[in-house]
Amino acid sequence: MNTPILVCVAWPYANADIHQGNVTGSYLPADIFARYHRLKGNDVLMVSGSDSHGTPVTVKAEEMGKSVDEVFNYYHGRFLRLFQQLGLGYDLFTHTHTENHARVSQDMFLALLNNGYLYKKITPQMYSPTAGKFLPDRYIEGTCPNCGYDSAYGDQCERCGTSLSPDELINPVSTISSKTPVKKSTQHWYLPLNRHENWLREWILQEHKNDWRPTVTGQCKSWIEGGLQPRAVTRDLDWGIKVPVAGADGKVLYVWFDAPIGYISATKQWALDNNKDWKPYWYEKDTRLVHFIGKDNIVFHCIIFPVMLKLHGNIVPDNVPANEFLNLEGDKMSTSRNWKLEMQDYIN
Ligand code: MF3
Ligand code: ZN
Repeated sequence: MNTPILVCVAWPYANADIHQGNVTGSYLPADIFARYHRLKGNDVLMVSGSDSHGTPVTVKAEEMGKSVDEVFNYYHGRFLRLFQQLGLGYDLFTHTHTENHARVSQDMFLALLNNGYLYKKITPQMYSPTAGKFLPDRYIEGTCPNCGYDSAYGDQCERCGTSLSPDELINPVSTISSKTPVKKSTQHWYLPLNRHENWLREWILQEHKNDWRPTVTGQCKSWIEGGLQPRAVTRDLDWGIKVPVAGADGKVLYVWFDAPIGYISATKQWALDNNKDWKPYWYEKDTRLVHFIGKDNIVFHCIIFPVMLKLHGNIVPDNVPANEFLNLEGDKMSTSRNWKLEMQDYIN
């Protein structure tokens, strides 16, 4: 048998319809690559799904006055229909709100924790006394310290692409109430990326300096050279996968911890449904893992998830051919800024 090729495509957040930038940037190139390798007789597995967790989905539900479950199911259904109409050849397009995915994610969290690869720390985080809850990631909006955009989110600036934490925003306010939050201490689990800098530098900047896109290695280089920081992999939220540790009530895995694990849980699900063995895809050195993503996802697929994979004994990506953004009248297409051409309109 030829080497397995694992085509792992970005999981769209189940909070908005898919635009043309998503398709041209990630889903279509993945489909072309998968078809090419299937024609060559290679063993191809192409998986993805809806990214159902995290604040992008809960904030949207609050805005719409609907339950989170309703919102994620609604968009998941629309993604499935759209991809069928487009003829994208996913072997499995699932979502992250399944029992299988929760189990695989919790197992990976526990494996990392029990091997001493995660540590606990108490820090002050943004909190809303009126709502009586913490305000992680997209519950906070403010001015980007990098480009000055005044509606940057607590996890990322949609204008310049910088990945942020709520702390870094100038004039942070709650996206729900527009009020200024207070700080309250809370415990979370951290992945110390700084401990893995040497390996990452060697792997990305040496081993792959000629076969990865310069736009991708360039972004990784600036991250690594800027010094990697420990990253919290849990959040105080009630929507998501529970932290599988006693006394962690009200805490869930960070969406960017569980979503990429979806590549593994989806492989497992596909194998289960088709009477196949999933392990070679994630443990055999020869497997070619390729991620099709947009450039705002580079750090997660080239740095954070590979560290998790490596520590867990899995293969790491062979390539991450991330694309730049598709522009509309000179400005990037974006769901959160509502500047986009809907893919469904194109099909209609
Ligand atoms: N939902 C994320 C986004 O739209 C992408 C997640 S890809 C993942 O930016 F597989 F890593 F989850
Ligand atoms: Zn910015």
